[in-house]
Amino acid sequence: MGGIPLFPEQASTFAAEVDALYIFIVAVSAFFTLAVSAAVVFFAFKYRRKHAEEVGAHIEGSLPLELAWSIIPTIIAMVMFVWGAKLFYEMRRPPDEALQIYAVGKQWMWKFQHTGGQREINELHVPTGRPIRVFVTSEDVLHDLYFPAFRTKIDAIPGRYTQLWFNATKPGRYHIFCAEYCGTKHSGMIGTVVVMEPAQYQSWLAGGATEGTMADRGAKLFSDLACTTCHLDSGQGRGPSLKDIIGTRVELVDGSTAVIDEGYLRESILNSQAKVVKGFTPLMPTFQGLISEEGLAALIEHIKSLSPQASTPVPALVPAAPAPSTSAAPPGAGR
Ligand code: CUA
Repeated sequence: MGGIPLFPEQASTFAAEVDALYIFIVAVSAFFTLAVSAAVVFFAFKYRRKHAEEVGAHIEGSLPLELAWSIIPTIIAMVMFVWGAKLFYEMRRPPDEALQIYAVGKQWMWKFQHTGGQREINELHVPTGRPIRVFVTSEDVLHDLYFPAFRTKIDAIPGRYTQLWFNATKPGRYHIFCAEYCGTKHSGMIGTVVVMEPAQYQSWLAGGATEGTMADRGAKLFSDLACTTCHLDSGQGRGPSLKDIIGTRVELVDGSTAVIDEGYLRESILNSQAKVVKGFTPLMPTFQGLISEEGLAALIEHIKSLSPQASTPVPALVPAAPAPSTSAAPPGAGR
């Protein structure tokens, strides 16, 4: 439209369907707005009072008409609902084989960490044709990580992980925005996501990471913070063994259970008394304020590396129907 792009580029597997749904809803709304407005104007003229003694006809109602204006809008609304819900569930369920990235929002920048150890600020490199799952959190206030070209965004909430996923389809450079007002320089909290062909991405990966993988950095932190003195692999320590725990369900001291995932590990490190595993005393100190968000993510990756067979549990909103995924992993890109 006059050289001004109405929509951002469509660069993910979601983009076309999100746009189609959006256009459908706008078109239906526009059609009925115009139809109702036209009818109002037309009837105002047609049935206007022409002389002072005129009295309107007495109408009891019309069953077919009333049924029509109830049933047709219901069908249209249900199409919008079912279509939207289907898309929503797809977007909320990252495929198991997704590549994982950690993102931290901070006034006023985005920090990204790849499990291979590469770190970036206001820039994110990802390959095409592969689902990418991003764990998002914030170091200070509420932010919102937004990839317009991928038609996806999620709040970055201090104190917990949220997540989004996408599968980029087109190499190129696209915007990253913060989509939640977060202070003076909110509008400057922007970045670029660089989508590369898998081969190029592999060589980009090889060029980074001088300080080891996230799991390596986490292992170092794990011993620096003396976690090793209690969390013995044998299970005989004062804390539970952390081997092969990811995705398992554990019983807690209060009789309830919890599934061990990134969110559980995060809470247990920062607020260690919250969900103590049954059979253990709540001896562990809190590490709130002692570990940076990036250190925390590295620690979690280290603990995940102790469960080599586990695929990360995905918070399920619906029981079945795994989200569609395309291509297989490029060689050597496993997590
Ligand atoms: Cu961060 Cu707006």
